[in-house]
Amino acid sequence: MIPSILPTYSRAPLTFVSGEGSWLTEADGRRFLDLGAGIAVNALGHAHPALVEALTTQANALWHVSNLYNIPAQQKLADALVAQTFADTVFFTNSGTEACELAVKMARKYWYDKGQPERTEIITFTGSFHGRSSAGIAAAGSEKMVKGFGPLLPGFTHLEFGDHDALNAAISDEIAAILVEPVQGEGGIRPLPDVCLKGLRDLCDQHGILLIFDEVQCGMGRTGKLFAHERAGITPDIMMVAKGIGGGFPLGAVLATENAASGMTAGTHGSTYGGNPLACAVGAKVMEIVGDDAFLTEVNRKAGMMRQKLEGLVAAHPDVFEAVRGSGLMLGLKCKATNSDVVAAGFAQGVLTVPAADNVVRLLPALNITDADIALAVEKLDAAASHVKEANA
Ligand SMILES: Cc1ncc(COP(=O)(O)O)c(C=O)c1O
Repeated sequence: MIPSILPTYSRAPLTFVSGEGSWLTEADGRRFLDLGAGIAVNALGHAHPALVEALTTQANALWHVSNLYNIPAQQKLADALVAQTFADTVFFTNSGTEACELAVKMARKYWYDKGQPERTEIITFTGSFHGRSSAGIAAAGSEKMVKGFGPLLPGFTHLEFGDHDALNAAISDEIAAILVEPVQGEGGIRPLPDVCLKGLRDLCDQHGILLIFDEVQCGMGRTGKLFAHERAGITPDIMMVAKGIGGGFPLGAVLATENAASGMTAGTHGSTYGGNPLACAVGAKVMEIVGDDAFLTEVNRKAGMMRQKLEGLVAAHPDVFEAVRGSGLMLGLKCKATNSDVVAAGFAQGVLTVPAADNVVRLLPALNITDADIALAVEKLDAAASHVKEANA
């Protein structure tokens, strides 16, 4: 008999009932150190007092009004995002997937309005992940995601990650945009080198192509910059954001330049819940905290410390791990053992990590994780690795 919850997830046998900072408590009382943070969502950990306060204050005042009216919390968050990024304008969504939908629509509408309606093709790369909607799966294009769900939304050209020749050969008058994650998350924590990000920007400028960054997972302070692309000193035309921006409350956004957004006039897009007062009250508080330079400096310091400890872990367990990779607090342990065995061994030690493609274990802790918790987490991973080695002996 089918379970009452559609069985699309393989869930670990864990039921968390409360959380505080980087810790989660299981129904049976066990405590777990959370290095997954809801897959890069709980940017400030669990039950951050300032976010609880922002949410409850808004909840006591007003939960929802339609986008037919002005929403002050939405305006505040949009103004903060515009002030601190390349963007001139923002549309709020409830998720990264919805941000992908709008990014694709925005790029196509741009060319339609410029009198080039045939310019609809969007270049994407292998290993990418942009959500599970029809546009999202068509954009990623992997067999795992699209099999059985055809006919797919047309207009995506999939290129091998890192294949510069293929990229140059694919450029034509039909390319509307290039869509890329500056650091692939689901694909196994694969950062695009700064030189490649710069190269993409140059290529787009040369051919008038729109550059779309998907910073749903790597954005909002995760890499030690407010947005990952800042490291390369370039900016996109359109950017998708979600996950960390809501700190655990469903919220996403599409940020764009005035030029890229020029086709999106009244009536061309909308969302009942997108930019909801509760979500934006929390989002504005997250932005205030994460967008602060001193906070990001701390993220970089913690990231350096964590990376150093992880390098030691890899060196100590050459049978289990191959390398550390990633940027900031978006880290991956490329495994020699099976990544899901490492994740399961972590559960037994009371540490939560997340598997990714390419046999990687993802570490995406809260950005405000304490130094003591970083040290403890690596001790727990060390014990987990020893168990994996024993089990494989
Ligand atoms: C890079 C990236 N884009 C898009 C998405 C989809 O976001 P959501 O699950 O909020 O719809 C994800 C989710 O993991 C993601 O990592």
